[in-house]
Amino acid sequence: MLDGKKSLFSGMQATGTLTLGNYLGALKNWVTLEEEYQCFYCVVDLHSITVRQDPAELRKRARALLTLYIAAGLDPVKNCIYYQSHVSGHAELGWILNCFTYMGELNRMTQFKDKSSKHSDNINAGLYTYPVLMAADILLFQSDVVPVGSDQKQHLEIARDIAERFNSVYGDVFTIPEPYIGKVGARIMSLQDPEKKMSKSDENPNASIYLMDDPDTIIRKFKRAVTDSDNQIRYADEKPGIKNLMDIYSAATGKTIAEIEKEFASSGYGDFKLAVGESVASVLKPIQTRFDELSKDKAYIDSIIKANAEKADYYATKTLRKVQKKVGFPEKIR
Ligand code: TYM
Repeated sequence: MLDGKKSLFSGMQATGTLTLGNYLGALKNWVTLEEEYQCFYCVVDLHSITVRQDPAELRKRARALLTLYIAAGLDPVKNCIYYQSHVSGHAELGWILNCFTYMGELNRMTQFKDKSSKHSDNINAGLYTYPVLMAADILLFQSDVVPVGSDQKQHLEIARDIAERFNSVYGDVFTIPEPYIGKVGARIMSLQDPEKKMSKSDENPNASIYLMDDPDTIIRKFKRAVTDSDNQIRYADEKPGIKNLMDIYSAATGKTIAEIEKEFASSGYGDFKLAVGESVASVLKPIQTRFDELSKDKAYIDSIIKANAEKADYYATKTLRKVQKKVGFPEKIR
């Protein structure tokens, strides 16, 4: 709760190019929540450096991501859209919460296990305490809800545990956040290996639809998507490729799975894949156009960066001061 309104926080990493998974699992839902909540959407650049980054590239991607938030439909006046690195409260609260998190809890994080096996030459402490910084992001804004894809569920659980532990020592300091995971699109799978989630870091470009892919590329990637050989459009666990395409089509068109099965009852995979590709291309087209327009307007984007960093900092500082006082740090003499 902030200023009497329920509050919401979410963020994305500025690493790699956003995929259809990021859009359908998170960004698309974000756009529907701006009236109900006081919303904070962050470009989490502090999290990005847990993996080695090229500085110029990171800066470029971070700006593109912030622009994309707006292009996807987030109103930057109603929603606070900002860079994590512009609000020092994230790192400061992160440190405090490190002292309320057990190594045993962090050892269980599946994302840490995945990432440390992928980056075995750089298993740094930041990668390990990544979920604590994420808890700080969320708790800093007294967030009631956190809209994410289902891969972030474990991180949400640890954020809740940390908040409850802190509150049990110091009283009601933090709001306990609830995950908000959409019914469709919460876990979009790779087009080349439907047992694996679609990911920005996949080395095979055919595995993911990128938000900036042009319609021909999108349709080509869907045509090549790995499926099975029974040629029936049916939603079943033993048909993960088709199930994934049906999820994508459902999220892109708003049609239910039953409606989709009916619509394609007498079609083969070729027609279905084409329909999925076309539906996705038509969802992404207006976002791409808006992105191109916004990217040219440097002064406008700069003004949003400035105003929203100040707004985020105001609320972050409020929570941080409260926490600092609770743990016993001396007050600043002003
Ligand atoms: P990130 O950048 O990996 O992903 C951003 C959002 O996209 C969702 N997502 C997916 N949803 C469905 N299908 C997929 N294949 C798929 N891939 C990604 C993610 O669930 C996420 O919602 N740790 C976070 C960023 C973060 C954050 C936070 C999120 C930092 N602090 C505080 C919420 C609250 C991350 O790496 O997301």
